[in-house]
Formats: sequence, C-alpha cells, structure tokens
Amino acid sequence: MSDPQPVYLSDYQPPAYQVTHTELTFDLDPAATRVKARLQIERHPSTDSQAPLVLNGEHLTLISLAIDGSPVSDTAYQLTDEVLHIADVPETFILESEVEISPSSNTALEGLYQSNGIYCTQCEAEGFRRITYYPDRPDVMATFKVTVIGNATSEPVLLANGNPIDQGVLENGRHFATWEDPHPKPCYLFALVAGNLHKVEDSFETVSGRNVALQLWVEQENLDKTEHAMASLKRAMAWDEQTYGREYDLDLFMIVAVNDFNMGAMENKGLNIFNSAAVLTHPSTATDAAFQNVEGIVAHEYFHNWSGNRVTCRDWFQLSLKEGFTVFRDQCFSADTNSAPVKRIQDVSFFRTAQFAEDAGPTAHPIRPDHFIEITNFYTLTIYEKGAEVVRMLRNLLGWEDFRRGSDLYFERFDGQAVTIEDFVGCMAEVSDVDLGQFMRWYSQAGTPEIDAHGEYDYAHGEYHLTLRQRTPATPGQADKLPLHIPIRMGLVGTKSGQDLTLTLSGEKLGSDAVIHLTEDEQRFVFSDVAEAPVPSLLRDFSAPVKLHFPYSREDLAFLLTHDSDGFNRWDAGQRLAMLALDDLIAAHRNGVEKVMDSRVVEAFRVLLTGSMSDKAVLAEMLTLPSEAYIAEQQPIVDVDAIHAAREFVRQSLAVALRDEFVAVYKANQSDDPYAPTPEQIAQRSLKNVALTYLMAIEDEEGVAFCETQFAAEHNMTDVRHALTLLVHSNRDDIASPALKAFGEKWAHDPLVMDQWFTIQVSRPQSDVLERVQYLMQHPAFSIKNPNKVRALIGAFAQNRINFHRLDGKGYTLLADVVIELNRLNPEIAARLVTPLTRWQRFDEERQQLMRDELVRIKQEPLSSNVFEVVEKALA
Ligand code: BES
Ligand code: ZN
Repeated sequence: MSDPQPVYLSDYQPPAYQVTHTELTFDLDPAATRVKARLQIERHPSTDSQAPLVLNGEHLTLISLAIDGSPVSDTAYQLTDEVLHIADVPETFILESEVEISPSSNTALEGLYQSNGIYCTQCEAEGFRRITYYPDRPDVMATFKVTVIGNATSEPVLLANGNPIDQGVLENGRHFATWEDPHPKPCYLFALVAGNLHKVEDSFETVSGRNVALQLWVEQENLDKTEHAMASLKRAMAWDEQTYGREYDLDLFMIVAVNDFNMGAMENKGLNIFNSAAVLTHPSTATDAAFQNVEGIVAHEYFHNWSGNRVTCRDWFQLSLKEGFTVFRDQCFSADTNSAPVKRIQDVSFFRTAQFAEDAGPTAHPIRPDHFIEITNFYTLTIYEKGAEVVRMLRNLLGWEDFRRGSDLYFERFDGQAVTIEDFVGCMAEVSDVDLGQFMRWYSQAGTPEIDAHGEYDYAHGEYHLTLRQRTPATPGQADKLPLHIPIRMGLVGTKSGQDLTLTLSGEKLGSDAVIHLTEDEQRFVFSDVAEAPVPSLLRDFSAPVKLHFPYSREDLAFLLTHDSDGFNRWDAGQRLAMLALDDLIAAHRNGVEKVMDSRVVEAFRVLLTGSMSDKAVLAEMLTLPSEAYIAEQQPIVDVDAIHAAREFVRQSLAVALRDEFVAVYKANQSDDPYAPTPEQIAQRSLKNVALTYLMAIEDEEGVAFCETQFAAEHNMTDVRHALTLLVHSNRDDIASPALKAFGEKWAHDPLVMDQWFTIQVSRPQSDVLERVQYLMQHPAFSIKNPNKVRALIGAFAQNRINFHRLDGKGYTLLADVVIELNRLNPEIAARLVTPLTRWQRFDEERQQLMRDELVRIKQEPLSSNVFEVVEKALA
C-alpha cells in the first residue's frame, strides 16, 4: 500500500455540484442500519457539463443507486474505498441511494456509532462520508429533512437537527420521527441521536421575544447533573445577544450527553452532542475546574451557531476561522462571568506551556496550514488557542467598537455562506481602515516569535529607550520568516512613585498604558518626559502570543509583583521571579551542588500571604509555581529529574519558611456553606487548597490532618479530590491507600468519577506508577475503547513527567503499545496520544534514542493515515 497523500490549500476548487436539499431516512439496527438518501443536486454554472459527479463514501455497503427514479447501471458508476464516481449526470437531478452501515462495530467514533447503546453521530470533520455517499465538504450546503426509524422500546427518543415535524408508530414495535432543518448547512453539522434518554427542559426568551425550548438529554441516572449546563446555556444565549447582537434562530435547542466521544463537544445545528465529561456536573462528582470547563464548552458550542454554522468554513484549511474566533468568544464569556484576570492567567499559562511546545516541535504548523494528510490531526492548540490569540490581537488593534462592527458586517455579509479567513479579516479592515496586510502573516507563519527587549533610562534627558528585536525560529517547511505586526501593550512603572508614568512617544501623549507596534525586525522606541527611572511592564495582559525576553533583575520583578497596575503582569512577574530561582536550582542539581533557596522568593510569597490582596482567585494563582511542563519549556534540554527536584525544593522551602502563614490561610478559608460554583466560592477553595498543597509538600502533621478531615467531610468534589490527591501523592500510604479504596468503591458506578480516580493514581511522583498503570488497565472500569478512560489513565500517565520519562524506557514502550492498539480501534485518539513521543528532540541523547525507537516501532505497523502523518513528521 502506498503512503497516504496530503491535500493542498492551493488546490482548492469550488464544488462541481451543489446539493440544495437532502432527505435522509435511517432504519436503525446495531449491525445493519439502512440509510436512504435523496439528494437534490445542481451542477455549478461554471462547471463543464461533462464533469463527473464524485461523492465521498467510506465503510459503506451500497445497496442501490438511482438518478431521477431510474437505477444507475453497474457500468455507469465506479466505486473505490473512498469515492463513488458517476460519469454522466444531468444538470439538475435527484440522486437516490441506499447503503448499509454498522454502528455497533464503529470504534472510531466517527459517523454513526453506539455509545452505551445510544445511537449518535459525529460528522466533523469528515465523518458524514461514513453515513452516506455525499460531497463531504463544508462548502456544500443544503437544507435537511431526516426521518429516523427505531425500536420503540430501546430507542424511545429519536432526535435530529432542526424542528420535529412528524412522528408515528410503525409495525413490529418500531416508530419514527421526522425532523426538518430550514437552515442550509454543510453535512459536518448533521446529527442524529436515538436511544433511551431522558430530558430536562427549560426555555429562553430571545431579545426579539421569541420563545426557545431548551432540552438537555441524558441517561436517567444523570438527570441530577444537568442544572449547571442548563444555567450556563441560558447565560451564553443572553451574552451572545448583548455582546455580539446574535440571536438564536430555531425554536428548539438540544444538548445530548454521551459517554463515548472523541472530543469535548460538537456544535451540530440545534442538536449539540457532548462528551458527558463536558456537560454533566454535580457538587459531589465534579470539581470547580469541571464546572468552569462545562460552562465554557456549553458556551463555545452555542456560540458556533453563528461563528461556524450560519457562517461556515469554505474548506478545512480555514478551520481556525470558526474555532479561533469561537474560542476567543468563549474566553471572553468566561472572563465576564467569572474572574477576568484569573481566566486570562489560566488561559495564558496553558497556552505558553502546551501551544509553545507544539510550535517548537516537529508538528508545528501555521494557524492556516497549507497542506495536511488527515484533518483530524489539525484540531490543535495552534488552530484553536493561537487562532484565538490572533483574533484577540485584532480586537485590541481595532478596539472593541470597531471589532464589533467588523463582526456584524461579517455575519451579515456572509450569512449562509462558506468563507475564508480573508473574508473575516477583510471585514475588520473595512470597518476600521486599519491596514491588516502585514498582520495576515500571523495566519501563514508557524512558530513562536521571540522578542529580545532592552531598555535604558537616560537621566540627563528624562528619556527611556526601549529596543525591541523580533525573530521567529524556523519550523518544518518554513526556514525563513518575515517580521510580524506585533502589538505590545505596556507601561513604565516609576520606581520612586510606584505608579504608571505617562507615556510620550514622538511628542504624542499615549496615556499611562498603551500599545506600541513592532513591525520591523528591530525597532527603537524613545519615551520622553520620563521623570523617574522606570521598570518597564511589557506585553501586558499577554497582548501577543510571543516569548518576550527582558533582562529583569530579581529586584525589578519583586517590584512589579507588587506595583504593576496590570494584574496579569503582576502574576507574570512572580512567575519570572520563580523561574530565575528555579533555573539556579536546576543548575545546582545538575552540578551536584547544594541547593540554596532564594530568599527573595520567600519574601515575595510572605508579602502575598500576609498582604491585603483581596482577589483570592488571583492570589491563589500567584502562589502557584510554574508547572514542571512550563519549566521544561524554558530549558534548552529538558532534564526531567532536575526540574522535578528543583521545583520540589522550592515548594518545600516555601512550606518550611511560611508554614504558619499557610496554616492560617487554610483555616481562614474553610467554609461550611452549601456548594455553589460561584467565583467567590471557587476563589476561596482554590486559595485554601493551594495552602494545603504547600503544607503537604513537607507532610506537615497538621496538614495531613486537614487532608484527612477534608476528605472525610465529603463536602464537595473539589475538596475531596484535592485532599485525596495530596494524600496519594505523599508518602502517607497508611492513610492514602484506604482512602483511595473507599473512594473507588463508593464511585464504582460513576464513570466520570472513576476517570478522576484513575488520574489521581497515575499522576503521583512515586516510582511504582508504571506498574499501577498496567494494573489499572485491567480494572473493570477501564476500557481502551472509551476515549475518556484512555485520557484519564494513559494520557495522564504521559503527563507524569518523571515517571513517563523513566530511564529504562518502559514508559515510552507502554505508550507505544497503547498507540498501536488504538491505531486499529480509534485512529483519531491514537494520533493524539502519540504526541509526547514526538517531542523527543527536547531530551537528552539517551531518552532521544529510546523515544525514537518506539516511534520507529509504531511506524512498522500498518498505520492509519492519522498516526502515519504524526509519526512521519516526528521522524523526519
Ligand atoms: N467543532 C469542535 C468539535 C470537533 C472537533 C469535532 C474536531 C470533531 C473533530 C467543537 O466546537 C470544539 O471545538 N470543541 C472543543 C471544546 C472547545 C471548548 C474548545 C473540544 O471538543 O475539545
Ligand atoms: Zn469549536
């Protein structure tokens, strides 16, 4: 078999034939579902009349085929594993086909499959071709009418997109429902759900006074876990009206929860399908983080109704058009609903860890890739999160009002169309008169730009000179990079006054907080009328997705930590200060020198702990050290052991020095109030639990007692899980083992809690973790076919840096074994799971060799195009 071949953006051609209306009838059966399609097709006016009709179709058994009511003879069409080719078709016609598919044996979870007996679909990006023969591309948009026939007992509920228009009873215990979606849509937004589901119902009155029925469909035992998602949905609907002027456009909006799902959730028109982990919450089963995640995902999928569905992507190269914009929208929604600075801190800290790593590795790609083999490999942090950062930069460059006008124009002009990133950016340029020509490079250039900044205060002239130099490192296939348009929000903080000084640039007063534009390779900015020596506060609120280097002294950083007017940069100053200390300790560890704690870090933490900082959520973030993964990102060669040892040393030193302060913070933030996922409560819990984390770093007796009590109190999952995690990650197996056992037995019936039980155990630092993973893979609650379980056990293990990177290579072998097995069952998940191995270049030679050996072993298998593409790049 030949290697899978890439498709290129530059090869894009409009579709030769449009489908204007699609009618589908599903006769459901686990192993032999029949799908009848009746497609109204029109040749595109500029298409040659000889052009064949080419339809996608995979894993389908063709039963019959007819054009305008007459069967298509065997010689008139050609069938391959991937396409149906009909040489001669009229200008407009009706194509009827019938195929058979097997949902019960569909382990890839693309197309129509069964999850816990429930029939459901996942069509984005190219899953619809596993349902019927169709031009499976987003620029083919049709209205849909769908009839679902099922067993009245096992599938009492039959759902599809749009509005229900008919239903009835049939022979042999079967029944049917017919749905109609009046909005033309690409087939990737098609959805069907059938099974024994129960609903929670609510309603929303739109701004124009229309009443929308809201339904959340779940299995019976989950009916008590829907309240938060429903409340989040209503908040999101109101927010999109107020913030973007976007109103919902059907009379019904449904969300369905299923256990087996490759991603988090999917925005199918009027019928969103969710991974149960992304929608179900209950105070006793879900943590604060899970509550906030659900709120964000519910909003994200809802927001797609406009940014994605009403205006969709011309082709999959434009994926960031809908995902980057929608992530930006959901980030702003969550910031408005919760603590805005904390949301930004969490997003950026994740971004700088995970997206920077992607951008620096062998799978680095631009926000708009120019080729791919398998599109499911491109649902990446670059497309999503860097895409969102680029939209955020547009908002900042234009200001909110012009950005909103650009958004209005985009939705109005392109409603019902499949468009490109140029169309979106074009609207922004048109309403604002801002030249975004150079800015477009953000979409085509991969890699993280690095900025070297230098500053000098000229006492004699009262000037501050800031020099910025930018460079973007080479990435695969892109050796040379052009300078980008980088907006840098900044201030100059006076070291005497502690205040932001007024910024005057080329005689123009810009206020105390301003954006400067770096567009050249190197630029010098001269600020005048600077009355006192300042410390620059650069890249405020992370105004561009770049690495900014500035030779700050530790005194500068301690100063910014308390004086910067930008909350994000106050936090970042703390992170930079901690990083300087960590760098020294990593070096000490490597050189076998005694480790000495930097007292400035201790004092900075003491100020934080005893000071008057009122925002507990931000305080909790400021007291959290950079993660091992983030620290690793900063090192030229990753030394997993030194990083772990250095970070543990800092944690323990802080705990020893500030033990009483942590105890006081813990006690002051306990509460017996009934659980609510409010920002205030979440802030208080995170601060309390951060304090407890430090106490447990030294296994303080009182800390251990706090953990035991907190675990036993069972007040809410946030506290229970945190206490259990700290115990299991400590050396107090005497307490941890029975607690873990009790927890596992108590929640054996709840898959989402069992996922947490798996993760807690395989994230611990002790060296028995690999054996635990192997043992837990045999546990009855584990299944390799369920993506959540794979992520909770295997994915979590691969994040456990010191254990995954064991020097005997057994961590790598375990991961590769699972990848090889999943390659057959679920290629999409297999390709994601292999990621940690692709980062081999970052490690020492011994580990490099071990990781490469496993990649080579995987490559010898008969591979799916998904895994092939990733492994091929990793070994290139
Ligand atoms: N459209 C995606 C879901 C999707 C992605 C389906 C890839 C099939 C293949 C959806 O809108 C999405 O982006 N979901 C995210 C969550 C979101 C909050 C970023 C997910 O599923 O992780
Ligand atoms: Zn999305």
